[in-house]
Amino acid sequence: MLADRFGLDQWQFTLSATDANRHALRYARQATGRRKVLVIDHCYHGTVDEAYATLDDEGRVVARRGSIGAPVPLDETTVVVPFNDIPALEAALAGGEVAAVLIEPALTNVGIVLPDDGWHVAVREACDGAGTLLIIDETHTLCAGPGGMTRRDGLRPDMVVVGKTIAGGVPAGAWGMTRDVADLVATSLGWDAEGTPGLEDIDVGGIGGTLAGNAVSLAGIRATLGEVLTADVYPGMIARAGEWTAGVQAAIDEFDAPWQVTQLGARSEYSFRPTPPHDGREAAEADDFALQQYLHLHALNRGILLTPFHNMALMSPATSSDDVARHTAAFREAVQSLFA
Ligand SMILES: Cc1ncc(COP(=O)(O)O)c(C=O)c1O
Repeated sequence: MLADRFGLDQWQFTLSATDANRHALRYARQATGRRKVLVIDHCYHGTVDEAYATLDDEGRVVARRGSIGAPVPLDETTVVVPFNDIPALEAALAGGEVAAVLIEPALTNVGIVLPDDGWHVAVREACDGAGTLLIIDETHTLCAGPGGMTRRDGLRPDMVVVGKTIAGGVPAGAWGMTRDVADLVATSLGWDAEGTPGLEDIDVGGIGGTLAGNAVSLAGIRATLGEVLTADVYPGMIARAGEWTAGVQAAIDEFDAPWQVTQLGARSEYSFRPTPPHDGREAAEADDFALQQYLHLHALNRGILLTPFHNMALMSPATSSDDVARHTAAFREAVQSLFA
């Protein structure tokens, strides 16, 4: 089912998306013989040390605030570029040191930042030109369609990472790769012409951990992808997100709030700036903790629990138009209390 959705035929399992990312990076380093990883400024890929990097005001790579216990200074492992910045990406890959670009197809962890037209084509071309592997983390962007943005937008990653929703709450993550990447790894391990590994020549972490791929996880993935998060529920989920977005936009317009709302498939999020952010820094600068706390508490007092540290809603197959209307009414009241 994963191969059908994402178009990559080799898959391994973990117990979290974090771990799937970690393994994808290990394989990318092994396949390319390179050390460094490129991530996007203000990304989040789970508790992956290399991905806890950000750019400071002078454009240097530093550990992101609040990340503890980095094993080495992060500029030793990581290159960081802003989202949607093609020249920066091309320059960063030009040195030939980067094993993999690890990227969400739209940023979703600093609010939603959508890709510019041409961004993903440029990312693929830059990776091809530099001999760098492209890992697309679809853990959140699975909201865009049954095969995430990879399938929806015809992206061509070398590896894909997914997790969270794929097993409906049972711990499970997965990472897939093309046959070419699998072959590169096998060759690098010195397997013989028949593809048979010697005893010393297998990946000691190859099964992803003692409990990875356990029967309950796999049953959870099969049930979720096969019976719950199927292609036919997406149109309804995306329509509900459209209603949610329209409700938020109507309140913003009615009270002239300097805010914007962005929808991505079945997910939508508003932020405290008048136009959609173009990169992670712009999105982060719009953050207002006190305002967010107020809106969350206002909603909570009306029986609506918003995702912590996000102004975000993700529709499930069971979310109804009545649920959305309830949020729309509460949100309008909150905006009115601030701007009327
Ligand atoms: C894009 C992305 N990748 C990976 C992860 C890590 O997922 P988990 O916490 O389940 O390991 C997250 C978590 O928010 C995420 O947003």
